[in-house]
Amino acid sequence: MGRPNVVVVEDPRELGRAGAEWVARRVAGTPEASVVVPTGETPLNLYRELATLRDQGRFDPSMITVCQLDEYLGIGLDDRRRLFGWMQRTFLEPLRIADERVVRLPVSGDLDVACAAYDRELEGRGGVGIAILGIGANGHLGFNEPPSDRSAPTRRVQLSRSSVEANARYWGSPDDVPRSAVTIGMAPLLAARSILLLASGAGKQTIVTRAMQGPIVPDVPASYLQEADDVTVLVDRAAWPEGDRT
Ligand code: F6R
Repeated sequence: MGRPNVVVVEDPRELGRAGAEWVARRVAGTPEASVVVPTGETPLNLYRELATLRDQGRFDPSMITVCQLDEYLGIGLDDRRRLFGWMQRTFLEPLRIADERVVRLPVSGDLDVACAAYDRELEGRGGVGIAILGIGANGHLGFNEPPSDRSAPTRRVQLSRSSVEANARYWGSPDDVPRSAVTIGMAPLLAARSILLLASGAGKQTIVTRAMQGPIVPDVPASYLQEADDVTVLVDRAAWPEGDRT
C-alpha cells in the first residue's frame, strides 16, 4: 500500500492527454490486462486522446479485455440510456476493441448469482489489471454509492438521490434516470493492480479533497483509494484545493 500519487494538470484537455499517456504506458507494460473503464463526462478527452495515440501507433489495445464497470437495470437492451451503449460509442468503437474482448455485467436473471459469477470471472483473469475511474459528487466509484464498504462485491444497487440528479443531465430529467444498477464492487476495484482516478472541474473539488485527505469511511467510498496499491489521482486545477497546488 502506498499513498495515492496526485497529479494536478491545467485543464480538462491536459487531463485527457496525461490520462491517455498513463493508460498507454500501463497497457504497454501489461498488454493483456483486464481494463475497467467508466462512462460519464470526465474520461471523454482521455478516450479521444487514446484513439489518437492508437492511430499514431503509440497505443495498442488489441490484447486488453474491457470489463464493464456499471450498468443500469430495468431498461430495454437497446434503450438509449444503456451505459454499455455509451461505452461502445466513446471507447470500444473509437479504439476498435473486438466484441470478444469485452465482458459485460449481467442485467437479468438471478443477479446475485450472476454478479458472483462476474467476480469469479474477474478473479479467473487475474483480477482487474487497470481500473480507470471517475468520482461522483457523493464519493461513489462506479455505482458503489455511499455507504459502501471496502469489501462490497459486484452487486445490484439502488442509486442515491445525488446520483440520480447528477445523471439527469445526460438523460433529460431525474425521472428519466433508472433507479437501480449493477456495479463492479469495491473489493475487485480496490484490488486492481493500477488505478487511475479522474476528476475535473470545481464541482468535484470538495469530494476529491474528502476522498484523498479525509477519513477513510464507507460514506465516501472513494476514500478507500487511500489504502489501495498504485493509485494515481489525475485532477485538473479546478478540482484540486488551491493551497495544495504545485
Ligand atoms: C460511470 C461511473 C461513475 C462516474 C462518476 C463521474 O460509469 O462509474 O462513477 O465515473 O459519476 O461522472 P462524470 O464523469 O460524468 O462526472
